[in-house]
Amino acid sequence: MNRNSIGFIGAGRITRIFLEGWQRAQKLPARIVVSDCHADALARLKARWPDVETTSTSTAVAGQDIVFLAVHPPVMAEVCTGIQGALGPDALVVSLAPKFTVAKLTELLGGFGRLARVIPNAPSLIGQGYNPVCFSPSLTASDRSNLKSLLEPLGEYPEVAEEKLEAYAVLTAMGPTYLWFQLQALREVAAGLGLTEAEIAPALNRMVCGGTRTLLESGLTPAEVMDLIPVKPLAEMETQVTELYRTRLPAIYQKIKP
Ligand SMILES: NC(=O)c1ccc[n+]([C@@H]2O[C@H](COP(=O)([O-])OP(=O)(O)OC[C@H]3O[C@@H](n4cnc5c(N)ncnc54)[C@H](OP(=O)(O)O)[C@@H]3O)[C@@H](O)[C@H]2O)c1
Repeated sequence: MNRNSIGFIGAGRITRIFLEGWQRAQKLPARIVVSDCHADALARLKARWPDVETTSTSTAVAGQDIVFLAVHPPVMAEVCTGIQGALGPDALVVSLAPKFTVAKLTELLGGFGRLARVIPNAPSLIGQGYNPVCFSPSLTASDRSNLKSLLEPLGEYPEVAEEKLEAYAVLTAMGPTYLWFQLQALREVAAGLGLTEAEIAPALNRMVCGGTRTLLESGLTPAEVMDLIPVKPLAEMETQVTELYRTRLPAIYQKIKP
């Protein structure tokens, strides 16, 4: 169990994903304090984790050893200026948001530079996350290992260059949303064709993982991979979907880049 006290400013999806991931790995830190501007978000958290302390004031969270900033970029400046002065000298602040660089966060926090950034992804909920991390140079080896021990139960946490984080936000943080609805539609169709959930689950899992690995690792060109199967019932949507990827994703990247 992590001995540091943990704070989250923001009691939304990513905070619940972290808590659930830790819970399922039986690595829930002993002391967790969460703030949010919505009482119902805090109540929802409390219903699932009665031992988690909830508060409407972010300064109470800022007094913890490791403070996660789990809010969206539009409120990040207000949140940071609000906790200036409430952070302990040895605290570690970890932003989970895109757009705000370590340099910008340091400025908003009045010169506080003990910072890391993580772009997490939702499969962290079951310990299968891909959570790229970058550390500010001032952090010690012990700071880094404290954060790594929190990321460990959630999945992989490669250390990456800060300027790549927003690209990971498009690839891995938002990535599941491009695929989940299609996988669920396929799951429902397969059920309608008479397969049980016990039959569908391993088949779908292996099809997606094996398909991805064939694209990435077979040594065939992408065209050769895609030509391995001659019957493509959804072929006519490929042009439109590819176009959506090529236009929407660079557009969201432009919006979230620093
Ligand atoms: N969900 C993911 O899979 C994921 C992945 C990678 C990164 N992230 C990042 O994580 C951050 C949070 O995302 P999320 O998915 O958890 O969003 P979310 O579900 O909308 O949760 C954010 C929570 O913070 C609250 N909030 C807003 N202003 C606040 C303030 N001043 N003080 C305290 N709480 C405040 C929000 O209230 P309102 O509803 O009123 O705004 C909401 O309850 C974002 O920067 C996002 O990019 C999320």
